[in-house]
Amino acid sequence: MAKISDNAVDAATALADQQLVALPTETVYGLGGLATSGPALDRIFQTKNRPADHPLIVHIDGVDSLDYWSSDAPVPAVKLALQFWPGPLTIVCPRSSRVLDAVTGGQPTVALRAPAHPLFQQVLRSLSEFGVASPGIAAPSANRFGSVSPTTASHVLAGLGEFLEPGDLILDGGPCTIGLESTIVICESAGVRVARSGAITAEQLAEVVDVLPALETEQVRVPGALAAHYSPAASVLLIDGDKDLSAIAGPLFDLDPSQIGIIGLESDLDTVGLGWIPLARPANPDEYAHELYAALRSADDLGLSHVVAVLPPPGGLADAIRDRLLRAARA
Ligand code: TXA
Ligand code: MG
Repeated sequence: MAKISDNAVDAATALADQQLVALPTETVYGLGGLATSGPALDRIFQTKNRPADHPLIVHIDGVDSLDYWSSDAPVPAVKLALQFWPGPLTIVCPRSSRVLDAVTGGQPTVALRAPAHPLFQQVLRSLSEFGVASPGIAAPSANRFGSVSPTTASHVLAGLGEFLEPGDLILDGGPCTIGLESTIVICESAGVRVARSGAITAEQLAEVVDVLPALETEQVRVPGALAAHYSPAASVLLIDGDKDLSAIAGPLFDLDPSQIGIIGLESDLDTVGLGWIPLARPANPDEYAHELYAALRSADDLGLSHVVAVLPPPGGLADAIRDRLLRAARA
């Protein structure tokens, strides 16, 4: 069992000792280990029960460290880092010789992100003060493989507590402001391809670089791109478009309504009552992203058998919400 702390220096000390630290970011909590420590990387995969060929994001302090972790980063990568870092954008570019195979799954590229959370930034600064040059923290989302990403320290404790060691730490930085994982872009010299949608939208990217067509998901190893991911134990059913319940509600009418939770924009939930348990009634897409994972978790905490999610209309951040819900529903 790991301790919960809000002290960034303790977190940096544990990382320097090759222990794992769950860290707050503006997107979701990450399970961090020093990117240059083989033993720490091994433990990340074990603790998450994650297949070894799924590469990790290395979290760095900013654009000035890009050349340390990437060699010959293409121009679009630099432009995006200058525009959106620190922030919820992960940039995939050619790896430097400093990047371990365990981080990249042996691929020639590395995924890099400079997180905006002040406590995470303090941990990176402390590592620098300890003498770690251009520190890199490898951190996948701090959940067991395939399950819902954590947006609070208590989510991390609930999901991973039993798998952490006494020297590990959970750094409590409060609830994540965004609540969905970062946008991932694969960078080429001609432009970028979006591999995972997130808070930085394709429209925002296109203001800075050329956005090329996305690759087929089989061509990139992105676990979040597996058909089933982000899944609670409850079955997730979706309502889209005209909010016509008849397509999905048939089998649900045989169930006890108190076994069914519902998530959706406030304006949509006015039209679908049915006595189901309201798990989240966000007023807008920002709130929807912020509340979504906690709502999916609460369905499991309440022991519900089904969650009905009303998809927000496409566009902007709603595209990432729709992406995560479609995958949660495929489980
Ligand atoms: O918001 C986030 O990105 C959070 C926080 C903690 O930063 N992290 C996160 O990590 O979501 P994870 O491991 O759950 O998802 C990282 C994604 C994976 O889908 C992985 O396949 C992809 O990044 N990835 C890592 N390295 C890659 C590479 N070289 N090429 C393509 N995709 C890569
Ligand atoms: Mg994840």
